[in-house]
Amino acid sequence: MMSLMDVDTLLTTTRSVRRKLDLDRPVEPEVLAECLRIALQAPAAGALLSSIRWLVIRDQATRSAVAEHVREPARAAQAQFGHLVSQATLASSRHLLDVLDRVPVFVLAAMIGRPAGPGADANVFYGSVYPAIWSFQLALRSRGLGTTITGYHLDGHEADVAALLGIPDDVTQVALLPVAYLTTTDFRPAARPSVQSVTYYERWGRAQD
Ligand SMILES: Cc1cc2nc3c(=O)[nH]c(=O)nc-3n(C[C@H](O)[C@H](O)[C@H](O)COP(=O)(O)O)c2cc1C
Repeated sequence: MMSLMDVDTLLTTTRSVRRKLDLDRPVEPEVLAECLRIALQAPAAGALLSSIRWLVIRDQATRSAVAEHVREPARAAQAQFGHLVSQATLASSRHLLDVLDRVPVFVLAAMIGRPAGPGADANVFYGSVYPAIWSFQLALRSRGLGTTITGYHLDGHEADVAALLGIPDDVTQVALLPVAYLTTTDFRPAARPSVQSVTYYERWGRAQD
């Protein structure tokens, strides 16, 4: 299927969607599989490409149980760090938590294994799945669906979710993505730092002449 959205629009308007998810419209297995197939075209560090796993969760009872494990650490994190994000983002995040169990599909991105250590090992380990996660988000958006990366349950509740879903001990959960069709197509580029303010030339800290 050829998307009608031009590439720069896709890249600049794919947002983290929390409020504008259609909780009532089913997500077809085929569209999800297509987006995951596209995601697997993303770059990964050598052999780590074969470590990526997706776990698709549609069952309502399972989604509700996962949502319970997400809410507790999420609300604790929001109480602690909520002041660091905008009021709009905080409200949007709270909304997603409130309706989480009603989002039709969860996709859990995972990696077989654990990063061998910090630094370069962690870099290639997580860096080998995040490009695929972002490609998944782009592929969803171009088909009228959306999601948000969430990692709340990884703070103390990864093992609970692993037990619930039968995930082996040597698998690292990376992100839980609640997926739904979008209720609007009206997404815009977000406020971001100017390129000038975050880019140096020839030497660290040096602006362009
Ligand atoms: C590694 C990573 C973890 C994130 N974790 C969360 C999360 O737990 N909850 C959430 O609502 N958004 C999460 N996000 C999404 C960011 O909050 C979001 O990208 C940011 O608000 C900017 O909004 P935008 O994606 O619409 O541009 C995460 C994003 C990344 C890259």
